[in-house]
Amino acid sequence: MFSLPMRRRQRSANNEETLARGLQEHQFTGELTSKSSMNKRLPISWTMRAILLQIVFGTFMAFLGWSSRDWFAAQTRKGTFEDPPWWLEDTVDDFFSRVYVPHLPAVRQLNVSAYFTGMCGRYRFNESAMPLASVIVTTQNEQNGMLTLTVQSIIARTPPSLLKEIIIIDDNGQAQHRALLNETEFEQIKLVSPKVKIITNYEREGVARCRMRGSRAATGDVLVFVDSHVEMLSATWLQHLLLPIIERPNTVAAQTLDIINDIDWTYGPGSGDLLYGVISDKFWFSYQRSRFGESDGNGIEVEKPGRRLPYETPFAAGSLFAVRRDVFWQMGGYDEGMYVWGGENTDFAIKIWCCGGRVVMVPCSRVGHMYRIHLKETGRWPPDLPQELTDRLGLGKPGQYVVEGNAADNFTKITVRNNIRVMERWAKHSDARTGYYKKLFGSKILPPEWKQFVDEMETDTYARTQKTVIQGNGCKDFNWFDKHVMVKLAGVHHPWHPDTPGKTWI
Ligand SMILES: *[C@@H]1O[C@H](CO)[C@@H](O)[C@H](O)[C@H]1NC(C)=O
Ligand SMILES: *[C@@H]1O[C@H](CO)[C@@H](O)[C@H](O)[C@H]1NC(C)=O
Ligand SMILES: *[C@@H]1O[C@H](CO)[C@@H](O)[C@H](O)[C@H]1NC(C)=O
Ligand SMILES: *[C@@H]1O[C@H](CO)[C@@H](O)[C@H](O)[C@H]1NC(C)=O
Repeated sequence: MFSLPMRRRQRSANNEETLARGLQEHQFTGELTSKSSMNKRLPISWTMRAILLQIVFGTFMAFLGWSSRDWFAAQTRKGTFEDPPWWLEDTVDDFFSRVYVPHLPAVRQLNVSAYFTGMCGRYRFNESAMPLASVIVTTQNEQNGMLTLTVQSIIARTPPSLLKEIIIIDDNGQAQHRALLNETEFEQIKLVSPKVKIITNYEREGVARCRMRGSRAATGDVLVFVDSHVEMLSATWLQHLLLPIIERPNTVAAQTLDIINDIDWTYGPGSGDLLYGVISDKFWFSYQRSRFGESDGNGIEVEKPGRRLPYETPFAAGSLFAVRRDVFWQMGGYDEGMYVWGGENTDFAIKIWCCGGRVVMVPCSRVGHMYRIHLKETGRWPPDLPQELTDRLGLGKPGQYVVEGNAADNFTKITVRNNIRVMERWAKHSDARTGYYKKLFGSKILPPEWKQFVDEMETDTYARTQKTVIQGNGCKDFNWFDKHVMVKLAGVHHPWHPDTPGKTWI
């Protein structure tokens, strides 16, 4: 493992002071990681580990689409990352709010400074010393103009030298969705830049398989998974996301979310920053306010994340994160046996943690995200969030998300089936699985309707692939995750743990 030393630009005494402070603050990551039991478990360096893994899994991963990458391979050869690609300046300048490609009609001015601590705007980057990103956008049943806003904001606010490509996976595979699709918009999006590539699914595949398709087509060093209803806020969103990945390879770096209003499309703050990603009692991803200074129950204070530096979190939202491409494949990517969305995000976060990596939230990388809620009247965009989620967010009305052509034919069934896969994979020997089944089905013995989803994992190629990857990487299980990640970072056990008091999620 290598640490990221601070670049020293000797400009003025004042600047030097700032740098010293920056250096001190940047010990945050090193400190947290050196405390983690994960490192005790892995005395060999990541380089050695990567080499071993490559030998053991080379053939298998080649089959999956994995190949070693130039940029990171070059860094590894050097052994350390001695010349970090960033430094701090005294001032915030327009670097932060620039647009690289002017005159894109969907790109609007955003008041960048209203959302960040000033420190975020003082970073400068040496982009020629950073890895290239492939942005992978999955889209399905999007409202008019949204995908355009997403793509144009990425093109406008990403340094061209770092953007390898934007791969759009068009998942409007069902006839009723294709019929509603605005093909003109897709045609125009392609014209924005030759870097935009579109892959079309002729069946609806869901987010896990879409992203796997996109990742197989990607050629950048880092994959960035992005929703099709977002807007990048600052011109340094990508660089900030890349830093914790450069610092430590097995990192999932997640953006901080703001909210694009679904009625008038105004950009506004989200639930706030400094939140931890946790899981609700129904195994939905959820945010929890950080419990600054509170005890984690073992007499250890829960650390307070800062508004500038990346901080570790048990889970991250299902989208808007970056991961090294080689690491993604080393980890076997997503479970392609999952449908639509929900479950693939918790599965992936648990996998990253349990297999020796980490998930971090990056306060200096922000993105506006539109929650799909109202707009029933357009007939274009079903207000189809599950009731549990809309209730919790206090928004919208429950709707029905019917997905044709799959064994699991409705949204509730799909997400529960996905969650069962996560439980069976990670929590077979944990009270979490029992607690979840009792919560959902009233008993730890599953009714046949659901038991079939457990049984199918025995023969399902995708489930078996994941099993091989997990065994091959010597990954820990949910009990370890609960104790060493959930409790350590969020200060709580998983929701079904006997010691978890009745708690509310925001
Ligand atoms: C931008 O946000 C800052 C900080 O909230 C505020 O002081 C400033 O007036 C805003 N500028 C505009 C043009 O709205
Ligand atoms: C930027 O990085 C490149 C590649 O590592 C290096 O050759 C160059 O000297 C760096 N430039 C600055 C200004 O630090
Ligand atoms: C389709 O998209 C184009 C380009 O964004 C837009 O000009 C046009 O109005 C849209 N058509 C419909 C029917 O919404
Ligand atoms: C969806 O599946 C759940 C669980 O099997 C069932 O209770 C519900 O009635 C189904 N909804 C529809 C619309 O079929």
